[in-house]
Amino acid sequence: MNKTDYKEINETLKALVKDVPYTMTNLANASALLNEKLDGINWVGFYTVKDDQLVLGPFQGKVACTMIAFGRGVCGTAVQTDSTQVVPDVHQFKGHIACDSASNSEIVIPIHRKGRTFGVLDIDSPLFNRFSEEDRAGLEEFVRILESVL
Ligand code: SME
Repeated sequence: MNKTDYKEINETLKALVKDVPYTMTNLANASALLNEKLDGINWVGFYTVKDDQLVLGPFQGKVACTMIAFGRGVCGTAVQTDSTQVVPDVHQFKGHIACDSASNSEIVIPIHRKGRTFGVLDIDSPLFNRFSEEDRAGLEEFVRILESVL
């Protein structure tokens, strides 16, 4: 697996979203960028808050669960606790929602807009323990850039 260059990814994201005022467009390109640049992943995308639940947004990967209640699965836990979830083995995570049976580890990062939860960035990997502290820091920075244009 190649080392991920988050500096390059995050510079690319800044350039991609600059002067683009359309959220769905930015989320679509953001998921495509991560899919292109991250090794060892099988799903990357967004869920956004609608009607007091998480609803599937732009993503790359297999067909996924459309609606997730707050507090359910890794995504719902990230929203409920308002904190990044790094799960080295999803099979050990109580209530994990298995959309793609290939997934073995996962990272979910909450996204905010105007002080409220806007949604989450969710990335799944077929590898166990795929996401390091470096990945967490690089991806949290990625989310901060997205938040700046939401
Ligand atoms: N695994 C997630 C559900 C979403 S899919 O991975 C795309 C969860 O437990 O929240």
